[in-house]
Amino acid sequence: MEIATVSPTTFVIFGVTGDLSKQRLIPALVDLYAKDLLPKEFRLVGFSRGAYTAEEFRKFLYETIVAKGHKHSSDRITRFIEHAHYCQGTFEEKDAYIRIAEKLASLDEKEIKQCSNKLFYLAVPPIYYGAIFDHLASSGLTIPCGGVDGWTRVLVEKPFGKDLETAQELEKRLSTLFQEEQIFRIDHYLAKETAQNILAFRFSNILFEPLWSNKCIEKVEINLHEQFGIQGRGVFYDGVGALRDVGQNHILQMLALVAMEDPKELNAALIRRERSRVLASLKLSQSATQDSFRRGQYAGYRDEEHVAKDSETETYFRIIAEVDNERWRGVPWVLEAGKKMPETKAEIQVYFKKTETCLCPPGAEHHHQNVLTFRIQPNEGISITFWAKKPGFSTELEPQVLSFNYKDSLLEQQLPDAYERVLYDCIRGDQTLFASTEEVEAAWRFVMTIMEQWKNEPLMEYDRNI
Ligand code: BG6
Repeated sequence: MEIATVSPTTFVIFGVTGDLSKQRLIPALVDLYAKDLLPKEFRLVGFSRGAYTAEEFRKFLYETIVAKGHKHSSDRITRFIEHAHYCQGTFEEKDAYIRIAEKLASLDEKEIKQCSNKLFYLAVPPIYYGAIFDHLASSGLTIPCGGVDGWTRVLVEKPFGKDLETAQELEKRLSTLFQEEQIFRIDHYLAKETAQNILAFRFSNILFEPLWSNKCIEKVEINLHEQFGIQGRGVFYDGVGALRDVGQNHILQMLALVAMEDPKELNAALIRRERSRVLASLKLSQSATQDSFRRGQYAGYRDEEHVAKDSETETYFRIIAEVDNERWRGVPWVLEAGKKMPETKAEIQVYFKKTETCLCPPGAEHHHQNVLTFRIQPNEGISITFWAKKPGFSTELEPQVLSFNYKDSLLEQQLPDAYERVLYDCIRGDQTLFASTEEVEAAWRFVMTIMEQWKNEPLMEYDRNI
Protein backbone atom coordinates (compact mmCIF):
# COMPACT_ATOMS: atom_id res chain seq x y z
CA MET A 1 0.00 0.00 0.00
CA GLU A 2 1.28 3.47 -0.88
CA ILE A 3 1.59 5.97 1.97
CA ALA A 4 -0.40 8.57 0.03
CA THR A 5 -3.46 6.33 0.24
CA VAL A 6 -3.20 5.63 3.99
CA SER A 7 -6.02 7.23 5.90
CA PRO A 8 -5.38 9.56 8.89
CA THR A 9 -3.16 7.93 11.48
CA THR A 10 -2.41 8.68 15.12
CA PHE A 11 0.91 7.49 16.60
CA VAL A 12 0.73 6.87 20.32
CA ILE A 13 4.21 6.49 21.82
CA PHE A 14 4.45 4.98 25.30
CA GLY A 15 7.71 6.12 26.90
CA VAL A 16 7.99 9.13 24.61
CA THR A 17 10.61 10.88 26.76
CA GLY A 18 12.82 7.77 27.05
CA ASP A 19 16.11 7.08 25.35
CA LEU A 20 14.80 4.97 22.47
CA SER A 21 12.20 7.53 21.60
CA LYS A 22 14.67 10.43 21.77
CA GLN A 23 17.47 8.69 19.92
CA ARG A 24 15.57 6.82 17.26
CA LEU A 25 11.80 7.22 17.05
CA ILE A 26 11.31 10.95 17.05
CA PRO A 27 14.20 11.48 14.60
CA ALA A 28 12.78 8.73 12.36
CA LEU A 29 9.30 10.28 12.42
CA VAL A 30 10.54 13.73 11.47
CA ASP A 31 12.76 12.23 8.74
CA LEU A 32 9.75 10.42 7.27
CA TYR A 33 7.76 13.64 7.52
CA ALA A 34 10.49 15.49 5.59
CA LYS A 35 10.41 12.82 2.87
CA ASP A 36 6.62 12.99 2.65
CA LEU A 37 6.40 9.41 3.86
CA LEU A 38 3.89 9.88 6.66
CA PRO A 39 0.16 9.79 6.02
CA LYS A 40 -1.06 13.23 4.91
CA GLU A 41 -3.10 13.58 8.08
CA PHE A 42 -1.34 12.35 11.21
CA ARG A 43 -1.07 13.08 14.92
CA LEU A 44 1.54 12.14 17.49
CA VAL A 45 0.39 11.53 21.04
CA GLY A 46 3.22 11.11 23.54
CA PHE A 47 2.67 9.29 26.81
CA SER A 48 5.06 9.41 29.75
CA ARG A 49 5.19 10.08 33.48
CA GLY A 50 6.66 13.61 33.22
CA ALA A 51 4.34 16.58 33.74
CA TYR A 52 4.42 18.45 30.43
CA THR A 53 1.91 20.92 29.09
CA ALA A 54 1.21 20.58 25.37
CA GLU A 55 3.58 23.50 24.75
CA GLU A 56 6.34 22.05 26.90
CA PHE A 57 6.02 18.73 25.12
CA ARG A 58 6.37 20.39 21.75
CA LYS A 59 9.43 22.23 23.02
CA PHE A 60 10.86 18.88 24.19
CA LEU A 61 10.29 17.45 20.71
CA TYR A 62 11.84 20.48 19.07
CA GLU A 63 14.96 20.26 21.21
CA THR A 64 15.23 16.49 20.73
CA ILE A 65 15.17 16.90 16.96
CA VAL A 66 17.68 19.76 16.99
CA ALA A 67 19.99 17.78 19.29
CA LYS A 68 20.13 14.98 16.69
CA GLY A 69 21.65 17.30 14.06
CA HIS A 70 20.74 20.14 11.79
CA LYS A 71 19.16 18.23 8.95
CA HIS A 72 15.81 20.00 9.24
CA SER A 73 14.96 23.67 9.01
CA SER A 74 13.38 25.24 12.04
CA ASP A 75 10.29 25.87 9.93
CA ARG A 76 9.94 22.18 9.12
CA ILE A 77 10.42 21.11 12.75
CA THR A 78 7.81 23.65 13.84
CA ARG A 79 5.31 22.29 11.31
CA PHE A 80 6.04 18.74 12.45
CA ILE A 81 5.57 19.40 16.15
CA GLU A 82 2.23 21.10 15.52
CA HIS A 83 0.90 17.55 15.11
CA ALA A 84 1.97 16.59 18.64
CA HIS A 85 -0.05 16.17 21.83
CA TYR A 86 0.74 14.84 25.27
CA CYS A 87 -0.83 12.60 27.91
CA GLN A 88 0.67 12.15 31.33
CA GLY A 89 0.58 9.02 33.47
CA THR A 90 2.34 5.84 34.52
CA PHE A 91 2.09 2.60 32.59
CA GLU A 92 0.34 0.78 35.44
CA GLU A 93 -2.27 3.46 36.07
CA LYS A 94 -5.66 2.38 34.77
CA ASP A 95 -7.10 5.89 34.60
CA ALA A 96 -4.25 7.07 32.41
CA TYR A 97 -5.59 4.89 29.60
CA ILE A 98 -9.01 6.44 29.96
CA ARG A 99 -7.34 9.82 29.51
CA ILE A 100 -5.55 8.55 26.39
CA ALA A 101 -8.83 7.20 25.01
CA GLU A 102 -10.52 10.56 25.63
CA LYS A 103 -7.64 12.44 24.01
CA LEU A 104 -7.75 10.20 20.93
CA ALA A 105 -11.52 10.45 20.64
CA SER A 106 -11.38 14.22 20.91
CA LEU A 107 -8.62 14.50 18.26
CA ASP A 108 -10.61 12.27 15.92
CA GLU A 109 -13.78 14.26 16.46
CA LYS A 110 -12.52 17.82 16.56
CA GLU A 111 -9.33 17.90 14.49
CA ILE A 112 -9.17 14.91 12.17
CA LYS A 113 -12.95 14.71 11.83
CA GLN A 114 -12.96 10.98 11.26
CA CYS A 115 -11.88 7.81 12.99
CA SER A 116 -8.09 7.66 12.55
CA ASN A 117 -5.85 4.58 12.48
CA LYS A 118 -4.10 4.03 15.81
CA LEU A 119 -0.53 2.85 16.06
CA PHE A 120 0.63 2.11 19.61
CA TYR A 121 4.40 2.06 20.02
CA LEU A 122 5.76 0.49 23.21
CA ALA A 123 9.13 2.24 23.65
CA VAL A 124 9.32 1.03 27.24
CA PRO A 125 11.28 -1.55 29.25
CA PRO A 126 9.80 -5.03 28.67
CA ILE A 127 8.62 -5.34 32.29
CA TYR A 128 5.80 -2.92 31.42
CA TYR A 129 4.51 -4.80 28.37
CA GLY A 130 2.03 -6.92 30.32
CA ALA A 131 0.48 -3.93 32.12
CA ILE A 132 0.24 -1.88 28.94
CA PHE A 133 -1.37 -4.70 26.95
CA ASP A 134 -3.95 -5.29 29.68
CA HIS A 135 -4.84 -1.64 30.08
CA LEU A 136 -5.00 -1.07 26.33
CA ALA A 137 -7.60 -3.79 26.21
CA SER A 138 -9.62 -2.89 29.28
CA SER A 139 -9.86 0.77 28.26
CA GLY A 140 -11.24 -0.23 24.86
CA LEU A 141 -8.26 1.33 23.06
CA THR A 142 -7.60 -1.84 21.09
CA ILE A 143 -11.01 -1.72 19.45
CA PRO A 144 -10.82 0.02 16.08
CA CYS A 145 -13.20 2.98 16.04
CA GLY A 146 -14.39 2.59 12.47
CA GLY A 147 -14.91 -0.15 9.87
CA VAL A 148 -12.01 -1.00 7.56
CA ASP A 149 -10.31 2.35 7.84
CA GLY A 150 -9.62 2.79 11.50
CA TRP A 151 -7.12 0.00 12.06
CA THR A 152 -5.26 -0.52 15.33
CA ARG A 153 -1.70 -1.83 15.40
CA VAL A 154 0.84 -2.34 18.13
CA LEU A 155 4.61 -2.10 17.78
CA VAL A 156 6.64 -3.93 20.40
CA GLU A 157 10.38 -3.63 20.94
CA LYS A 158 12.65 -6.56 21.68
CA PRO A 159 13.51 -8.36 23.89
CA PHE A 160 10.16 -10.03 23.78
CA GLY A 161 10.11 -11.80 27.13
CA LYS A 162 13.18 -12.76 29.14
CA ASP A 163 13.05 -16.47 28.42
CA LEU A 164 10.86 -18.95 26.57
CA GLU A 165 8.26 -19.10 29.30
CA THR A 166 7.78 -15.35 29.71
CA ALA A 167 7.76 -14.89 25.93
CA GLN A 168 5.01 -17.51 25.63
CA GLU A 169 3.02 -15.84 28.39
CA LEU A 170 3.31 -12.47 26.67
CA GLU A 171 2.31 -13.99 23.35
CA LYS A 172 -0.74 -15.54 24.96
CA ARG A 173 -1.76 -12.23 26.44
CA LEU A 174 -1.12 -10.35 23.24
CA SER A 175 -2.98 -12.82 21.08
CA THR A 176 -6.15 -12.45 23.14
CA LEU A 177 -6.07 -8.69 22.48
CA PHE A 178 -4.83 -8.45 18.91
CA GLN A 179 -4.86 -10.44 15.70
CA GLU A 180 -1.42 -11.47 14.41
CA GLU A 181 -1.80 -8.92 11.54
CA GLN A 182 -1.99 -6.16 14.15
CA ILE A 183 1.19 -7.11 16.01
CA PHE A 184 4.53 -5.77 14.82
CA ARG A 185 7.44 -7.26 16.80
CA ILE A 186 10.41 -5.09 16.05
CA ASP A 187 13.89 -6.33 15.33
CA HIS A 188 15.45 -3.27 13.81
CA TYR A 189 18.32 -5.30 12.35
CA LEU A 190 15.85 -6.81 9.88
CA ALA A 191 15.02 -3.27 8.81
CA LYS A 192 18.62 -2.28 8.11
CA GLU A 193 19.15 -1.73 4.39
CA THR A 194 22.20 -3.99 4.29
CA ALA A 195 20.39 -6.83 6.04
CA GLN A 196 17.55 -6.59 3.53
CA ASN A 197 20.12 -6.81 0.80
CA ILE A 198 21.12 -10.32 1.89
CA LEU A 199 17.98 -11.83 0.37
CA ALA A 200 18.27 -9.75 -2.79
CA PHE A 201 21.92 -10.77 -3.15
CA ARG A 202 21.27 -14.45 -2.54
CA PHE A 203 18.16 -14.99 -4.56
CA SER A 204 18.72 -12.66 -7.50
CA ASN A 205 22.21 -13.82 -8.43
CA ILE A 206 22.77 -17.32 -9.80
CA LEU A 207 26.46 -16.95 -8.92
CA PHE A 208 26.28 -17.98 -5.28
CA GLU A 209 23.10 -19.93 -4.63
CA PRO A 210 24.43 -23.22 -6.12
CA LEU A 211 27.36 -23.00 -3.67
CA TRP A 212 25.22 -21.99 -0.70
CA SER A 213 25.40 -25.12 1.43
CA ASN A 214 27.67 -27.43 3.39
CA LYS A 215 29.08 -28.70 0.09
CA CYS A 216 31.01 -25.50 -0.50
CA ILE A 217 30.76 -23.46 2.70
CA GLU A 218 33.17 -24.18 5.52
CA LYS A 219 31.86 -21.82 8.19
CA VAL A 220 29.91 -18.62 8.75
CA GLU A 221 30.79 -15.93 11.28
CA ILE A 222 28.37 -13.29 12.49
CA ASN A 223 29.79 -10.48 14.60
CA LEU A 224 28.07 -7.63 16.35
CA HIS A 225 30.84 -5.72 18.09
CA GLU A 226 30.49 -2.37 19.79
CA GLN A 227 33.32 -0.22 21.07
CA PHE A 228 31.14 1.47 23.63
CA GLY A 229 29.74 0.10 26.89
CA ILE A 230 26.16 0.14 28.09
CA GLN A 231 25.87 3.92 27.73
CA GLY A 232 23.97 4.57 30.94
CA ARG A 233 21.41 1.82 30.23
CA GLY A 234 22.15 -0.12 33.42
CA VAL A 235 18.50 -0.28 34.47
CA PHE A 236 17.60 -2.06 31.25
CA TYR A 237 20.80 -4.01 30.63
CA ASP A 238 21.73 -5.52 33.98
CA GLY A 239 20.04 -8.89 34.30
CA VAL A 240 19.32 -8.91 30.54
CA GLY A 241 22.83 -9.26 29.12
CA ALA A 242 24.27 -9.52 25.64
CA LEU A 243 22.65 -12.82 24.66
CA ARG A 244 19.11 -11.59 25.30
CA ASP A 245 19.85 -8.03 24.18
CA VAL A 246 21.31 -8.73 20.74
CA GLY A 247 21.75 -12.52 20.44
CA GLN A 248 18.20 -13.83 20.71
CA ASN A 249 17.11 -11.30 18.10
CA HIS A 250 19.58 -9.33 15.92
CA ILE A 251 22.23 -12.03 15.52
CA LEU A 252 19.77 -14.89 15.04
CA GLN A 253 17.77 -12.87 12.51
CA MET A 254 20.94 -12.19 10.51
CA LEU A 255 21.66 -15.91 10.65
CA ALA A 256 18.14 -16.69 9.44
CA LEU A 257 18.57 -14.39 6.41
CA VAL A 258 21.79 -16.12 5.41
CA ALA A 259 20.53 -19.66 6.02
CA MET A 260 16.88 -19.59 4.92
CA GLU A 261 15.46 -21.26 1.83
CA ASP A 262 14.17 -19.27 -1.12
CA PRO A 263 10.68 -17.98 -0.22
CA LYS A 264 10.02 -17.78 -3.99
CA GLU A 265 7.96 -14.61 -3.61
CA LEU A 266 8.26 -11.27 -1.86
CA ASN A 267 5.54 -12.25 0.51
CA ALA A 268 5.61 -11.53 4.25
CA ALA A 269 4.07 -14.83 5.33
CA LEU A 270 6.40 -16.92 3.15
CA ILE A 271 9.53 -15.02 4.17
CA ARG A 272 8.65 -15.19 7.86
CA ARG A 273 7.91 -18.88 7.53
CA GLU A 274 11.32 -19.60 6.00
CA ARG A 275 13.12 -17.53 8.65
CA SER A 276 11.29 -19.33 11.42
CA ARG A 277 12.12 -22.75 9.94
CA VAL A 278 15.81 -21.94 10.15
CA LEU A 279 15.50 -20.73 13.73
CA ALA A 280 13.62 -23.89 14.66
CA SER A 281 16.45 -26.06 13.33
CA LEU A 282 19.16 -24.36 15.36
CA LYS A 283 21.20 -26.32 17.85
CA LEU A 284 24.57 -26.02 19.48
CA SER A 285 27.33 -27.26 17.24
CA GLN A 286 28.04 -30.99 17.55
CA SER A 287 31.72 -30.36 17.43
CA ALA A 288 31.43 -27.73 20.15
CA THR A 289 34.07 -27.75 22.81
CA GLN A 290 34.01 -25.79 26.07
CA ASP A 291 35.46 -22.89 24.14
CA SER A 292 32.25 -22.72 22.12
CA PHE A 293 30.20 -21.12 24.87
CA ARG A 294 32.21 -18.20 26.09
CA ARG A 295 30.65 -15.46 28.11
CA GLY A 296 32.38 -12.40 29.45
CA GLN A 297 31.91 -9.13 31.25
CA TYR A 298 33.98 -6.05 30.52
CA ALA A 299 36.24 -4.72 33.25
CA GLY A 300 34.47 -1.87 35.00
CA TYR A 301 30.95 -3.03 34.14
CA ARG A 302 30.05 -3.45 37.81
CA ASP A 303 30.91 0.20 38.41
CA GLU A 304 28.37 1.39 35.85
CA GLU A 305 25.34 3.21 37.18
CA HIS A 306 22.38 0.96 38.11
CA VAL A 307 24.48 -2.21 37.80
CA ALA A 308 24.68 -4.60 40.76
CA LYS A 309 28.12 -4.71 42.38
CA ASP A 310 28.11 -8.50 42.11
CA SER A 311 26.42 -8.62 38.71
CA GLU A 312 26.88 -11.82 36.71
CA THR A 313 25.41 -10.29 33.55
CA GLU A 314 27.42 -10.98 30.40
CA THR A 315 28.36 -8.14 28.07
CA TYR A 316 30.01 -10.52 25.60
CA PHE A 317 29.30 -13.96 24.21
CA ARG A 318 30.63 -16.29 21.60
CA ILE A 319 28.77 -19.43 20.68
CA ILE A 320 28.98 -21.95 17.89
CA ALA A 321 25.67 -23.00 16.45
CA GLU A 322 24.59 -25.42 13.78
CA VAL A 323 21.59 -25.29 11.48
CA ASP A 324 20.41 -28.85 11.60
CA ASN A 325 19.04 -29.38 8.12
CA GLU A 326 20.24 -30.97 4.91
CA ARG A 327 21.66 -27.79 3.49
CA TRP A 328 23.70 -26.76 6.49
CA ARG A 329 24.44 -29.83 8.62
CA GLY A 330 28.06 -29.77 9.82
CA VAL A 331 28.72 -26.08 9.11
CA PRO A 332 29.67 -24.12 12.23
CA TRP A 333 28.04 -20.72 12.71
CA VAL A 334 30.22 -18.66 14.99
CA LEU A 335 28.10 -16.01 16.66
CA GLU A 336 29.83 -13.29 18.63
CA ALA A 337 28.66 -10.06 20.22
CA GLY A 338 30.08 -7.74 22.80
CA LYS A 339 30.28 -4.28 24.25
CA LYS A 340 33.66 -2.53 24.77
CA MET A 341 35.20 -4.42 21.90
CA PRO A 342 38.20 -3.15 19.93
CA GLU A 343 35.98 -1.80 17.15
CA THR A 344 32.34 -1.24 16.25
CA LYS A 345 31.19 -3.48 13.42
CA ALA A 346 28.30 -5.69 12.47
CA GLU A 347 29.22 -8.09 9.72
CA ILE A 348 28.64 -11.55 8.36
CA GLN A 349 31.48 -13.51 6.81
CA VAL A 350 30.88 -16.60 4.73
CA TYR A 351 34.03 -18.73 4.36
CA PHE A 352 34.02 -21.03 1.34
CA LYS A 353 35.92 -24.30 1.30
CA LYS A 354 39.26 -24.45 -0.44
CA THR A 355 39.41 -25.90 -3.95
CA GLU A 356 40.45 -29.53 -4.02
CA THR A 357 43.58 -28.78 -5.99
CA CYS A 358 45.61 -25.64 -6.31
CA LEU A 359 47.66 -24.22 -9.12
CA CYS A 360 50.11 -22.90 -6.58
CA PRO A 361 53.86 -22.77 -6.92
CA PRO A 362 55.52 -26.03 -5.81
CA GLY A 363 55.71 -26.30 -2.04
CA ALA A 364 53.34 -23.37 -1.42
CA GLU A 365 50.70 -23.88 1.22
CA HIS A 366 47.15 -24.16 -0.09
CA HIS A 367 45.25 -21.72 2.08
CA HIS A 368 43.26 -20.18 -0.72
CA GLN A 369 39.78 -19.59 0.46
CA ASN A 370 37.06 -17.25 -0.82
CA VAL A 371 35.35 -15.10 1.77
CA LEU A 372 32.13 -13.23 1.18
CA THR A 373 31.46 -10.39 3.61
CA PHE A 374 28.18 -8.58 4.22
CA ARG A 375 29.08 -5.38 6.07
CA ILE A 376 25.88 -4.47 7.86
CA GLN A 377 27.56 -1.40 9.40
CA PRO A 378 29.63 0.75 9.31
CA ASN A 379 31.00 1.06 5.73
CA GLU A 380 27.90 -0.71 4.51
CA GLY A 381 28.58 -3.00 1.58
CA ILE A 382 29.41 -6.44 0.27
CA SER A 383 32.84 -7.76 -0.67
CA ILE A 384 34.33 -10.96 -1.99
CA THR A 385 37.90 -12.05 -1.51
CA PHE A 386 39.25 -14.11 -4.39
CA TRP A 387 42.68 -15.26 -5.51
CA ALA A 388 44.57 -14.02 -8.53
CA LYS A 389 48.01 -14.55 -9.96
CA LYS A 390 50.50 -11.93 -8.90
CA PRO A 391 51.24 -9.71 -11.88
CA GLY A 392 54.56 -10.38 -13.62
CA PHE A 393 56.72 -13.47 -13.92
CA SER A 394 55.69 -15.01 -10.61
CA THR A 395 53.23 -17.88 -10.38
CA GLU A 396 52.32 -16.96 -6.82
CA LEU A 397 48.74 -16.13 -5.90
CA GLU A 398 47.55 -13.11 -3.97
CA PRO A 399 44.17 -12.13 -2.54
CA GLN A 400 42.10 -9.48 -4.30
CA VAL A 401 38.77 -8.00 -3.35
CA LEU A 402 35.64 -7.35 -5.38
CA SER A 403 33.65 -4.83 -3.50
CA PHE A 404 30.37 -2.94 -3.43
CA ASN A 405 30.29 0.05 -1.08
CA TYR A 406 27.16 2.07 -0.58
CA LYS A 407 29.41 5.09 -0.01
CA ASP A 408 31.03 4.91 -3.43
CA SER A 409 27.73 5.25 -5.20
CA LEU A 410 26.57 8.04 -2.90
CA LEU A 411 23.75 5.75 -1.96
CA GLU A 412 24.58 6.11 1.70
CA GLN A 413 22.81 9.45 1.90
CA GLN A 414 19.66 7.78 0.72
CA LEU A 415 19.80 4.89 3.16
CA PRO A 416 16.78 5.12 5.40
CA ASP A 417 17.42 4.57 9.07
CA ALA A 418 16.13 1.20 10.31
CA TYR A 419 13.52 2.93 12.49
CA GLU A 420 12.17 4.90 9.53
CA ARG A 421 11.69 1.59 7.79
CA VAL A 422 10.05 0.03 10.86
CA LEU A 423 7.50 2.85 11.10
CA TYR A 424 6.96 3.10 7.36
CA ASP A 425 6.25 -0.63 7.01
CA CYS A 426 3.97 -0.70 10.03
CA ILE A 427 1.92 2.17 8.60
CA ARG A 428 1.65 0.24 5.32
CA GLY A 429 0.80 -2.97 7.16
CA ASP A 430 3.77 -4.91 5.76
CA GLN A 431 5.07 -7.43 8.32
CA THR A 432 7.99 -8.81 6.30
CA LEU A 433 10.66 -7.12 8.42
CA PHE A 434 9.02 -7.97 11.74
CA ALA A 435 9.42 -11.17 13.74
CA SER A 436 6.52 -13.60 13.85
CA THR A 437 5.45 -15.39 17.00
CA GLU A 438 7.01 -18.60 15.60
CA GLU A 439 10.36 -16.86 15.08
CA VAL A 440 10.40 -15.38 18.57
CA GLU A 441 9.58 -18.73 20.13
CA ALA A 442 12.10 -20.69 18.05
CA ALA A 443 14.85 -18.17 18.87
CA TRP A 444 14.07 -18.44 22.59
CA ARG A 445 14.16 -22.25 22.44
CA PHE A 446 17.68 -22.13 21.07
CA VAL A 447 18.80 -19.43 23.49
CA MET A 448 17.50 -21.49 26.41
CA THR A 449 19.89 -24.31 25.44
CA ILE A 450 22.78 -21.86 25.61
CA MET A 451 21.69 -20.50 28.97
CA GLU A 452 21.53 -24.06 30.23
CA GLN A 453 25.14 -24.67 29.12
CA TRP A 454 26.21 -21.40 30.70
CA LYS A 455 25.21 -22.57 34.15
CA ASN A 456 28.57 -24.37 34.25
CA GLU A 457 30.58 -21.70 32.47
CA PRO A 458 32.69 -19.15 34.29
CA LEU A 459 32.12 -15.49 33.44
CA MET A 460 35.45 -14.15 32.27
CA GLU A 461 36.47 -10.55 32.66
CA TYR A 462 37.84 -8.81 29.56
CA ASP A 463 39.42 -5.54 28.73
CA ARG A 464 38.79 -4.73 25.06
CA ASN A 465 41.16 -7.37 23.70
CA ILE A 466 39.05 -10.40 24.32
C1 BG6 B 1 19.73 -2.66 20.53
C2 BG6 B 1 20.43 -3.10 21.79
O1 BG6 B 1 18.65 -3.50 20.23
O2 BG6 B 1 20.65 -2.71 19.45
C3 BG6 B 1 21.66 -2.26 22.04
O3 BG6 B 1 19.53 -2.97 22.88
C4 BG6 B 1 22.57 -2.25 20.83
O4 BG6 B 1 22.37 -2.72 23.18
C5 BG6 B 1 21.76 -1.86 19.60
O5 BG6 B 1 23.62 -1.33 21.06
C6 BG6 B 1 22.58 -1.96 18.33
O6 BG6 B 1 21.82 -1.39 17.30
P1 BG6 B 1 22.49 -0.46 16.23
O7 BG6 B 1 21.41 -0.17 15.24
O8 BG6 B 1 22.96 0.77 16.95
O9 BG6 B 1 23.62 -1.25 15.68
